Amino acid sequence: MTADNTQPGPRPDPSDFPAEFVWGVATASYQIEGAAALGGREPSIWDTFAATPGRVRNGDTGEVAVDHYHRYADDVSLMADLGLAAYRFSVAWPRVLRGGVPNPEGLGFYDRLVDSLLERGIEPWLTLYHWDLPQHLEDRGGWPERDTAHRFADMAGVVAARLGDRVKRWTTLNEPWCSAFLGYGSGRHAPGRTDPGDALAAAHHLMLAHGLAVDVVRAAVPDAQLSVTLNLYPVTALDDRPGNLDAARRVDGLQNRWFLDPILRGEYPSDVRSDLEPVSNLSWIRDGDLEVISRPLDFLGVNYYTRHVVRAGAYPGVGEAEFTVPHRTVAANGWGVDPDGLVEVLRRVADYSDLPVYVTENGSAWEDRPGPDGTVHDPGRVAYLQSHLDACRRAIDAGVPLAGYFAWSLLDNFEWAEGYDMRFGLVHVDYATQRRTVKSSGRWYGEFVRAHRGVILTP
Ligand code: FCB
Repeated sequence: MTADNTQPGPRPDPSDFPAEFVWGVATASYQIEGAAALGGREPSIWDTFAATPGRVRNGDTGEVAVDHYHRYADDVSLMADLGLAAYRFSVAWPRVLRGGVPNPEGLGFYDRLVDSLLERGIEPWLTLYHWDLPQHLEDRGGWPERDTAHRFADMAGVVAARLGDRVKRWTTLNEPWCSAFLGYGSGRHAPGRTDPGDALAAAHHLMLAHGLAVDVVRAAVPDAQLSVTLNLYPVTALDDRPGNLDAARRVDGLQNRWFLDPILRGEYPSDVRSDLEPVSNLSWIRDGDLEVISRPLDFLGVNYYTRHVVRAGAYPGVGEAEFTVPHRTVAANGWGVDPDGLVEVLRRVADYSDLPVYVTENGSAWEDRPGPDGTVHDPGRVAYLQSHLDACRRAIDAGVPLAGYFAWSLLDNFEWAEGYDMRFGLVHVDYATQRRTVKSSGRWYGEFVRAHRGVILTP
């Protein structure tokens, strides 16, 4: 298996996309803001986790990150220069609330960010939770505790009351699978706990939090468009052997259907419930929860990176499954490049519902280095973007109501347990100086977006 990241892929054409198609980029608070102890921000589970030796590569933390807290206005200008229509960001719960009450300084930061986006004609798309749970809530049990869902709804109400006059696109959670299963199952992410039963309880309470927040935001912002973002993967068996096919069913069940079915159909998948009997009796599901979890939404967010190819093997907590990467092209973090998988997940989501769908994250990590002249040439990312935009076009042709695309990410940033080693940005960041340099991929994306939007290029 060789990494072949320079081959020209299919070239999407701007005219393939509907006129109203939304083009943006995405980021997340802990990955970019820094200023971890400024403006009254409280510690989050990621501060604690990153400060624990051995948890994050090179001992990296989000303490400074890419200093977006201070440089947000320049970052907004960068997006405006790229011609983007929308910016998906998350609010840091430990910044907007302090000791459970609104923190004016923290809310003020997002106020300024939203205003500066609107001034530059960029629509703010706000995510309420991208993994930075206040540490004091983890100390009281974290997501495996039902009360955390209610505290989340309180926070949603505070943010909606403050920003709802200007922010109309609201996403409750980013990738609840990661919060639950990496945070409380494998322990790869904060808070680093490893109890399969807790991971399942966390998943339920995250989805409950989502439903409660939908009600709260809708009440505060009647014209809000509400959604949740799920990380979906096509799951394929390595071959047709029955053990491998069953591994694919189980991984797909827990990765995709465990979230899609409750949120969009109001029920947990029965085959996965049976798989999980040895692990948990799911006793935390209470009457009425699934009605809250399946509240009507206005659109769906899909994050797509790669396909899972599985065979029977060891998969903690739910029996036996092992992941393989048979792809010809593999990104720097080991994820196989698989644009067909994006078409598959988008078609699958369209089978569940008629809601408009947005790709809320899609991107790839490569070993980007500035050349002697300071430019950053990233052919692997250009090819990835092109092939995945072509996949979006194919999904639209197949009838999927795909309405927008957000590249992950605007900037190189703190890539969770991988620290700063994995660069996903369209814009390179020199971490020593915080200098931003638009990579070839950023230039290509900007040109594509401007061509689609018909924006006149200023010389
Ligand atoms: C997603 C996360 C995002 C980023 C990308 C690479 O799972 O939502 O924060 O880390 O992966």
